[in-house]
Parts: sequence; C-alpha cells; structure tokens
Amino acid sequence: HYLGIDIGTSGTKTLLIDAAGKVIAEADASYPMHQPKPGWTEQDPDDWWAATIKTVREVMQLSKCKPADVKAIGLSGQMHGSVFLDRQDNVIRPALLWNDQRTAAECDEITTAAGGRRRLIKLVANPALTGFQAPKVLWLRNHEKRNFDRLAKVLLPKDDIRRRMTGEYVTEVSDASGTLMLDVVRRRWSKSLLSKLQLDESLLPAVVESEEVTGTLTEAAAAALGLTTACKVVGGAGDCAAGAVGNGVVKPGVLSTSIGTSGVMFVHSDQPQYDASGRLHTFCHAVNGAWHMMGVNLTSGGSLQWWVESVLQNLAGLEGKDLYAKATAEAQLCPAGSNGLLFLPYLNGERTPHADPNARGAFVGLNLTHTRGSMTRSVMEGITFALRDSLAIIQSLDVPVREIRASGGGSRNPFWRQMQADVFGKKITTLKVEQGPAYGVALLAAVGDGAYKNVQAACKATIEVADQTPVDRRSAKTYNDLFPVYQKLYGDLAESMR
Ligand code: XUL
Repeated sequence: HYLGIDIGTSGTKTLLIDAAGKVIAEADASYPMHQPKPGWTEQDPDDWWAATIKTVREVMQLSKCKPADVKAIGLSGQMHGSVFLDRQDNVIRPALLWNDQRTAAECDEITTAAGGRRRLIKLVANPALTGFQAPKVLWLRNHEKRNFDRLAKVLLPKDDIRRRMTGEYVTEVSDASGTLMLDVVRRRWSKSLLSKLQLDESLLPAVVESEEVTGTLTEAAAAALGLTTACKVVGGAGDCAAGAVGNGVVKPGVLSTSIGTSGVMFVHSDQPQYDASGRLHTFCHAVNGAWHMMGVNLTSGGSLQWWVESVLQNLAGLEGKDLYAKATAEAQLCPAGSNGLLFLPYLNGERTPHADPNARGAFVGLNLTHTRGSMTRSVMEGITFALRDSLAIIQSLDVPVREIRASGGGSRNPFWRQMQADVFGKKITTLKVEQGPAYGVALLAAVGDGAYKNVQAACKATIEVADQTPVDRRSAKTYNDLFPVYQKLYGDLAESMR
C-alpha cells in the first residue's frame, strides 16, 4: 500500500491506495491562511504537520491497513512557499506562500543581478515572479535581517514535511523548479544565479527526481504517524506536477486544467520549451527527464470562494456545499455571457499572463437587469476566461492539445465542465478516479517502491477516463466573441488598479 499526502493551501489531503491504484481510504484536515497585510499570505508549518499526522492516522484507522503494509509515501504540496529554519531546525517565522505578493522589489533585484530578464530566463528558464521562492529569501534578507542571520535552510512546504518524517533535507525537480534557483534544463541548482544573488547553496536541500527514495521514517515520525521505520518517502512533486500525474498527463497531447484555489493549465513536454516572453512557467515534470509548461491564475476557485463565502454568505440560510449548489443553480438560469457582465478574477494580483502583483478584480458592464445569478455566472466565466488566456499562449507555441482533462473543484460541477468546454472550444474529459495531487504522488510512491517501471506505466495501469463533455457550438460562439473583450479589459483598467 502507498500513501499520497498533499499539503494544500486550504488543507491537507491524504490517500491510501493499493498497488493496483485503487483508493482504499482518504482523509482531509483544514487550517487557516493568514493575511497579516493585503497581499501577504502566510501559514504555520506546524499546522501542516499536525494535519499530516491527523489524516495519516485517520486513513490507517479507516482502512484497517497494517502499518507494515504501507511501503512508501509520496509528498505533494502547494509550490513556491518558504519554510525558514535555523541550525536547530526551528521554524524562524511563519512560511510565506505561493500567492504572497510582497516581493516585487526583490524580483527587480534578482532580474538586475542576473543581468536582465533574458539572462535570468537562460539561467533558470523563468522570469522573477513575486510568488517564487528566491524573492522570498531576499525579502527576509532585506526586511528581517535578524531572522536572515539565523537562517540555515529554506525548504518548500512538502519538503519540510519530509524533513519532519525522515530527518533529510531533500527536494525534487518539479517543486525545485518553482524556487527560481534551479537550472531547469540541467535539473540541478544554478550555481551561477546563486552566486549572483550571494546566496550559499548550503541553504538549499539536495535535489532528486520525483520517484527517487529520499529516506525512511525516523523512529519519532513513525510513532507520530502510526507507521514503521521501514516506510520509504519518495521525492514526490509540487502540486501542479503531482496533479498532472494523477490526471495521467505524462505525455504530449493532453492538457490538464485544474481549478482549486489557483487555476492551472498544464502540458507535458519532452523537451524544455519556452514562451519567449516568460508568460508561462517552464518547469521540470515529475516524469523523469521530462518538462512541462503551465499558466497559473492566482485566484481561480479562490474567486468563486470569495464570492460565495464572503459576499453571498448565509444566502437563504445555506452553508458549505448547499450554498455553492444554490449559487451555481442561480447562475445556470442566466445565459452564456452573463447578459454582458464581465468579471476579472485578479483579486490578489495575477501571474499568467499579466505578472502583476497589483492587478485587482472587477465587475464590468453592470446594468439594472443583472441579478445575483448573473454575477455568480460572470465570476465563473471570468475564472474560465483567465484559464483560456493560458490556453491561448500554449496553443500559440504550437504545442498539440487534442484533449483537455478537467480536475479540481471546477471539474465536479457539470455546469462548470460545460462552461469550460464552451470557453476553451475543446471537449473536456474527466477521470473515473479524480483525486488530484495526492493520487499522483501515491503513484510516484508505488514507482519508487518498484511496483511499476516508471510513472507512465503506473498511469497507464491505473487511470481511466470516465466522462466526456462535448462543446456546445452556440455557447462557444458567444464566448469566442466575448473573449477579446475580456482580454482587453485588463489593459484598459490596469492604471486604475494601482
Ligand atoms: C503553481 C502555484 C499554485 C500552488 C497552489 O505555480 O503557485 O498552483 O502550487 O497550491
């Protein structure tokens, strides 16, 4: 049996699968995200560890699996975040997260130190973006000098869980790609950029491929988790690459879209390929020796969450799933295009395609006929248009996209699946078992333990398409006509967002 653990932004999800890929048990635990100032996002790594212990114990109890039968663990998590540790492994301050926007000045500092944007892209395949890890380390040096002087290691979220499990400081290529310190083409730290930034490589963990075994559980961790010290921990993957493995996106031709807090459009690539203007990320894939490109929207499902939970909250006395069901049912009564109402989902800045920490959300085109339903629908359409921005860049690079596979919260609602098919102009497929990143890294654990020869073989044996949503030509035409109007709005409004 294998465990997949995903340290997400809203919570941790843990899955237990058998060697044939069947899900035996699953558990979730949530924790808060702190926003000490607008644009700042932080979490407490101790919350992630507590959620890991709780969910692992829960799946073990639910499944009645014997501890010795769990052979390996795969770790996934929110990417780019920074856990700052001192020499004794104490967490120095709360972790800065992937959607934190405080580091615009540090991004400029990095671009200048690298000798310009093009040189930086040559070194690490990507431009400096506020969410990435390197600018966070520089922010600590620039703003919290005393904390920086204590700094001995900086780890990505899931790699801090690995440290607590195995005592080892290790990351793997897919998540390391999002630090802006990895030479993505050669799959090792960029000594050249580190020296230009005057950062010591000893601050960083070792880098391995995603299926490699990085250690076994320490006695203390085995006792805390209710597992044995023979249990291995494999590299795992950042949640985007892990989700792609869980969706079977391990070869060219299939694009995966995932709507969680963030929105991700992800394609596999056998070679490192670039968008010359750096709007897409080029990262190592969790498939050994392969890469991927992706576009990321920072507040994707997060925009619907804001709209439903903060604005509509307690509508008709409803909460949770019922509240979402009521809101999306109202949206469905409004026609495609929301009667001319458009929504920009940039509530906390945006990455693809604008790379603008100051971008903000907007409803544009409100009139007296609009209802709550039209507003909900336009939020969902705006989120989907933002994903189409990434799709358009991917298609402009001649990357083949035969099929789009939807996952995350946005794939579970048939209305939203249809909207995706119509906005993207491509049929949408969903999977029989759609368990996201936790499933992808459980498969990586199976590969690392020798149950499959490689990731592709594991996906082939376990992943099955369940459902197809074809394009509705009429709505697709409406969306096609609206998309350029949506695209133009950001440029028109950018000045007033500052
Ligand atoms: C990817 C990214 C987000 C987080 C969310 O680049 O920043 O998708 O990984 O968990």
